[in-house]
Amino acid sequence: MSDYSELPVLPMSIRFDHAAGTLSPAGPTLTRRMSDLEGLFLDQDAWLSALADGDPIVYSVVSSRVPEIDRELPQSITTIQPGVTGGEFWMTKGHQHPNHQGEIYLGISGSGGLLMFDGTSTNWVDMTPGTIGYIPPGWAHRSVNVGKEPYSFLAVYPGGAGHDYGWVLEHGLGQRVCTENDGVVFRDYFTGARP
Ligand code: F6R
Ligand code: ZN
Repeated sequence: MSDYSELPVLPMSIRFDHAAGTLSPAGPTLTRRMSDLEGLFLDQDAWLSALADGDPIVYSVVSSRVPEIDRELPQSITTIQPGVTGGEFWMTKGHQHPNHQGEIYLGISGSGGLLMFDGTSTNWVDMTPGTIGYIPPGWAHRSVNVGKEPYSFLAVYPGGAGHDYGWVLEHGLGQRVCTENDGVVFRDYFTGARP
């Protein structure tokens, strides 16, 4: 990402406008459409249909002006729209921090969850407003909107941690978060089978 404030970063106050989903002063904003999630939904045909159906925005990430560099603590707010593709709830791409470091998420609105995978074990944390989800070093993570409204959360992470998206494409996240009979069920990441 670019467009951060100039260094050094001085002490500051950052305002979050809940209704507008903005941070002020603002840093970079990222918009992820369905086309950006290639290879991430198990049902490729359903993903292609969603692309043909207007390539909707799946989530956006607004960041403060704190830069992603070592020793700084950047923050961002992610908002995932409600939706299901091929039975899978809409979600973020998911990533691993190559320089293994911890991260915290704080639920702001809506109903979602934090899926974590360390290469062997999967962990799920329900996220509602006020929940702090802790991601330990070395756990890849993805956020999922399991509700019918947009799901928003604040992330605070070490600026030098880096983001590896290829790791998730290669190793998966252990499980997928799907809907069945209006409820939430977990399925095996690569086969889609119920565990
Ligand atoms: C930062 C972090 C979040 C995510 C954001 C979008 O380390 O975990 O700010 O970057 O929720 O998810 P991804 O990056 O997986 O597209
Ligand atoms: Zn992260």
